[in-house]
Amino acid sequence: MADSKVKIDIRKMRIMKRKKSQVAWITSYDFPFSYVAEQAGVDMILIGDSGGMVQLGYKTTNPVTMDEMITMAKSVRKGAPNTFIIGDMPQGTYEVGEKEAVVNALRFIKEADCDAIKLEGGIRVASKVKAIADAGILVMGHLGLTPQSSASFGGYRVQGKTVKSFENTLQDAFALQKAGTFAVLLEAMPSESAGQITKQLDIPVYGIGAGTQVDGQLIIMHDLMGFYEPFRPYFAKCYIPDVIKEFEKKISSASDIRQMGIDERNDGILLLAKMAATKYVQDVRNRKFPGEEYTYPIKDKWLEKLKKSKMWKE
Ligand code: KIV
Repeated sequence: MADSKVKIDIRKMRIMKRKKSQVAWITSYDFPFSYVAEQAGVDMILIGDSGGMVQLGYKTTNPVTMDEMITMAKSVRKGAPNTFIIGDMPQGTYEVGEKEAVVNALRFIKEADCDAIKLEGGIRVASKVKAIADAGILVMGHLGLTPQSSASFGGYRVQGKTVKSFENTLQDAFALQKAGTFAVLLEAMPSESAGQITKQLDIPVYGIGAGTQVDGQLIIMHDLMGFYEPFRPYFAKCYIPDVIKEFEKKISSASDIRQMGIDERNDGILLLAKMAATKYVQDVRNRKFPGEEYTYPIKDKWLEKLKKSKMWKE
């Protein structure tokens, strides 16, 4: 399957938005899990700066360096040669100036063979987005809860619940679209606000913890696998419990498990991870994930206020 896979491109992403088909993507930071993601049939992989936490063990994403991101990105490309891969610009590599932003974005493309880059922020980074896009590099925006600057809005908090937060996010999204982003990712927002932004933008709008009305879903690999102990966001689902019986069945039905391991190397964590990632991809495509269960609720009175915003369109 991996060899014959046709990589998604921005044209197909737009068609999928129009047809309301969901894009399924996962973060990954290394060779084995990227192999798993590609085998599971994901549309895209993000080498998130979250890799600084879940892979390199930092307490936040802030210390991650460009060199560390490139090392992770190179191994991701080796594990997933036929998947659309996005490199995440770490803090401090694009805010200072357009030239630095373009040089660092180019490293993902030239050194690690990424297809696109992602960066956090809206109006405040629009000139950098434009410079990168003008250099011919595909740029994705990231709005809502943006971990690199989370301290400036009081920590890891759900966004888009108040009129001010919704309107600011929508204005940022319009600025990113105008500056040339091919898509925007929204993090940690109620479905209704994220849905409004998805509806009002021409480019695809994806979500992580942004509910059911966006054009596709992202999940952190280590949350999906239950592979990170310090923290699990409300909106993340571990898929191992969903597939453990199927895994046991496959293992217990083998007539010679040792020989199966030698022949297929499909008797351990790799198989379990492939089953979990495949189930996630199916659930996203069938709109079973995130559902209401993994979506931030919004109180009726807050929603009524949002609907009175001059930027809300029915
Ligand atoms: O670093 C990352 O994985 C991200 C996602 C949380 C959106 O930016």
